Amino acid sequence: MTITYSYLRENAGLILHVVRPTKLSYAKLHDLSRLIEEGGQIRADGLADRLLRCRWVAYVCDGLVVVGTAALKTPEDGPDNNAIVKAQSPYNFYDFKIEIGFLMVATLYRGKRLASVLTKALCDKEPLSNIYATVAETNSIAQSILLKNRFIQSGIPFADRAGSGMLLLFVKISN
Ligand SMILES: CC(C)(COP(=O)(O)OP(=O)(O)OC[C@H]1O[C@@H](n2cnc3c(N)ncnc32)[C@H](O)[C@@H]1OP(=O)(O)O)[C@@H](O)C(=O)NCCC(=O)NCCS
Repeated sequence: MTITYSYLRENAGLILHVVRPTKLSYAKLHDLSRLIEEGGQIRADGLADRLLRCRWVAYVCDGLVVVGTAALKTPEDGPDNNAIVKAQSPYNFYDFKIEIGFLMVATLYRGKRLASVLTKALCDKEPLSNIYATVAETNSIAQSILLKNRFIQSGIPFADRAGSGMLLLFVKISN
């Protein structure tokens, strides 16, 4: 499915796509993986495979070039090492079947509200699901995008896998 949001119409050539990952061509998967890798926050190994296991992948193209992406993932963490437990959140991990992540906008396209549009489009796909996200404690822009999409911060900061910073848990409870 291809959706053109009114916001994006003002930006000639920018088109938002929200698709099941199995609909992505090999070339598009490669482009999305490369863009996500550029962010430097996501481990690069097996990224295309991890994208393929997502429920939905959203991306914005400027012509043929992918300039922003995000995805709804199926959490693959175990009962003891998931973000909800690590954040000491009062919520139950098993009540969350979806995590939003892989959010990345190409440097030249930042500040055009693409991340906001990608996040909203994905949340709109799963209005009846609880969704969680983890965000670097220092990433106030990503945090503000989640807050505007009815996520709330839950629990306490916890160390990321690389041990290089602290993460915050955000949860969106379905209607
Ligand atoms: C974080 C990121 C995804 C934001 O993408 P973006 O498309 O520029 O974000 P948006 O344009 O939707 O901006 C969201 C809000 O932050 C504000 N904002 C964006 N860039 C800003 C900046 N440099 N300084 C201050 N505010 C900023 C926008 O004005 C907007 O506020 P509004 O809703 O009140 O208008 C992008 O910077 C990025 O890809 N960073 C690297 C990867 C990353 O951090 N991913 C998130 C991991 S959780």
